[in-house]
Amino acid sequence: MFFIALLLAYLLGSISFSYLVTYKLKGIDIRRYGSGNAGATNTLRVVGKGPAALVFLLDAVKGMAAVGIGELFGGEPALLMATGVAAIIGHNWPVFLNFRGGKGIATTIGVTALLTFKAALLSGIFAVLAILLTRYVSVGSLLFATLLPILIGWMDYPPAYFWISLIITLLAYLRHRDNIKRLLNGTENRIGARK
Ligand code: G3P
Repeated sequence: MFFIALLLAYLLGSISFSYLVTYKLKGIDIRRYGSGNAGATNTLRVVGKGPAALVFLLDAVKGMAAVGIGELFGGEPALLMATGVAAIIGHNWPVFLNFRGGKGIATTIGVTALLTFKAALLSGIFAVLAILLTRYVSVGSLLFATLLPILIGWMDYPPAYFWISLIITLLAYLRHRDNIKRLLNGTENRIGARK
């Protein structure tokens, strides 16, 4: 049963809204433009604010809906967080797009806003501040993913949330390897900069 819930969440996560929205609006594959990432930040870069906001929202709701699948399959804390992680994995490596997707941050926000709201909110505030100060979305994303397990562990959440949130952090770092390299050598794209 657990496996079916995870599979459904993975399939849901595999629906790439940045791909669908940019393809619908511009007839292009978002993964061939900008950073090559199938996500809201790259939609902002390649298409604009409105479509990026829509993609962000849909990707976040996708994470929430994945948790809803966990709820339907019994709702144990470990399963709820695990279905969220399965959706993030689907977003990052979508079966429908040859396993080339996004970095999972908007979906992570959806999952954690539902399960660990206070931790997500606090991490989100620091992340937004970091983005405003540096104009690097990746810095905000990585800060968000770093603070999450710390705050989840510190606040009064089920232990399973903490342990599984470590996987979320790991996934975020794994998917931001190129951003980290670019940040270190000073070539990362700043938001609002011309590409
Ligand atoms: O959430 C994704 C963001 O951190 C980086 O996106 O397109 O600049 O690689 P991008």
